[in-house]
Amino acid sequence: MTNAVDGQAALAAIKEAVGDNGWLADAANMAPYVNEWLKILEGTCQMVVRPGTTEQVAQVVRICHDAGIPITPQGGNTGMVGGAVPNGGIVLSTQRLNSIRELDADNATLTVEAGCLLADVQAAAADAGFLFPLTLASEGSCRIGGNIATNAGGNNTVRYGNTREQVLGLEVVLPDGRVWDGLRGLRKDNTGYDLKQLFIGAEGTLGVITAAVLSLVPAPRDRITAMAATESWDDLLKLFRIMRRRLSGSLVAFEVFTDLGIKITVDHIDDANDPFTDGHRLYALMEATCYDNEAAVREAVETGLGEAFEDGIVTDAVLAESGQQAANLWNVREGLPEAQSMESMVIKHDVSVPISRIPEYVAKGGALVEETIPGARLLPFGHMGDGNLHFNMLQPDDMERDVFLAFKGDINRKLHDLAIAMGGTFSAEHGIGLNKVGDLAHYRSEVELDLMARIKQAFDPANIMNPGKVIDIGSRVSAF
Ligand code: FAD
Ligand code: MLT
Ligand code: ZN
Repeated sequence: MTNAVDGQAALAAIKEAVGDNGWLADAANMAPYVNEWLKILEGTCQMVVRPGTTEQVAQVVRICHDAGIPITPQGGNTGMVGGAVPNGGIVLSTQRLNSIRELDADNATLTVEAGCLLADVQAAAADAGFLFPLTLASEGSCRIGGNIATNAGGNNTVRYGNTREQVLGLEVVLPDGRVWDGLRGLRKDNTGYDLKQLFIGAEGTLGVITAAVLSLVPAPRDRITAMAATESWDDLLKLFRIMRRRLSGSLVAFEVFTDLGIKITVDHIDDANDPFTDGHRLYALMEATCYDNEAAVREAVETGLGEAFEDGIVTDAVLAESGQQAANLWNVREGLPEAQSMESMVIKHDVSVPISRIPEYVAKGGALVEETIPGARLLPFGHMGDGNLHFNMLQPDDMERDVFLAFKGDINRKLHDLAIAMGGTFSAEHGIGLNKVGDLAHYRSEVELDLMARIKQAFDPANIMNPGKVIDIGSRVSAF
């Protein structure tokens, strides 16, 4: 803020712009907006602002721009990298921007406001016979603007790609308060720079997304869901290859987790049950969709599993016989991110490497964890079909929280170095936020960093939009 008096006047003007329902300023009510769900970062802010319309968002941003007040855009606050945690200024929550504006069945598009819950977007698509394919375990709490701002990945990317692939148009309030109406639902539109792509994955550093036109696909007629057990990462990879060859475009998900993953999920999550009678080392949950011939897709899954049994790759498997059984299998996978935080403190990673190198990454990364944090319980899981693992680790029982967390910088660097050396990345789907600003500066080239800083500078020269997240232009300003 420029000075305290101007700041107070600006906050009063914001309150007037959004009305009584549109702001919160006492500490207890603001707590869920300033602290992250992982219980590590604790932010601060002067006010949480909850505009109800795009015009109100524009008014609020204009006031902040003129007074130099930092804005932290926020959806469901389920992010993994601290991007929505404020450091002063205001939190701009999209919670009240939650209307489904239009479903256009002829063009298979859905226009929604940024604060719609992902689950509500999925339901609106399903009600009209479509599928909105983005699926995350946080879908009941994250909001579509947050998904777009993080370019979220999730469990269906093997077939449908990341959020970016589902977005046709955006409406954005720019850091100076102007509204960019890019709500076009076209599949083809080569008219200069594709501006929407800049806001997708920008994590709120270039503007506030207020609405989006999403691309829908026809709802599949059926899904075939199976879980298989293997005893090695090499076998998981072989299983993936078999399934990809047999199912091709029908394969939508190939998620993996370990014996520790299944154990803590069953321990902590009420409706998660281990479908196997015997314990195994590793598990793959796979799903295929059918658009016409269900029998053929089921047969392909069965034949693939049969081949894997014959080759000694798979030691046990279950094929869901009903929607309920499929949901039960998914409960084991979807309960895992929450279960890990209920079990203990977690140090999280989000690496990706070429799929063929996943077993090598697990072996080398596991050794690094063992030598760096003796007793840490390794918990790799995630989206193996995309080459993306959450190479997480749990606090040892006999280690204090702060002692464990003190290893974070060291182990992050080692595991990120390993991913980069193997042709991978240190952030596959969660983004950069606050936690990985140093990693971005360390691993990305001067040219890339210069271009990113110039983009940020061009959109937000006053640096009020989520400052300090993704790229710290304060420290790169000499580049201009
Ligand atoms: P927030 O956390 O509120 O914000 C995230 C970032 O986006 C911040 O930088 C914020 O400033 C910015 N932002 C939010 N809304 C806007 C807006 N309207 N305009 C501009 N910027 C905005 N992520 C995955 O990718 N894959 C997974 O499989 C996955 N699984 C998860 C499972 C669980 C149980 C949980 C808790 C989280 C998971 N996540 C996953 C992380 C998280 O849910 C996603 O990153 C999600 O997209 C964040 O949405 P949100 O609305 O909560 O955003
Ligand atoms: C998931 O895939 O469930 C989340 O992205 C993982 C996490 O909790 O790290
Ligand atoms: Zn994930």
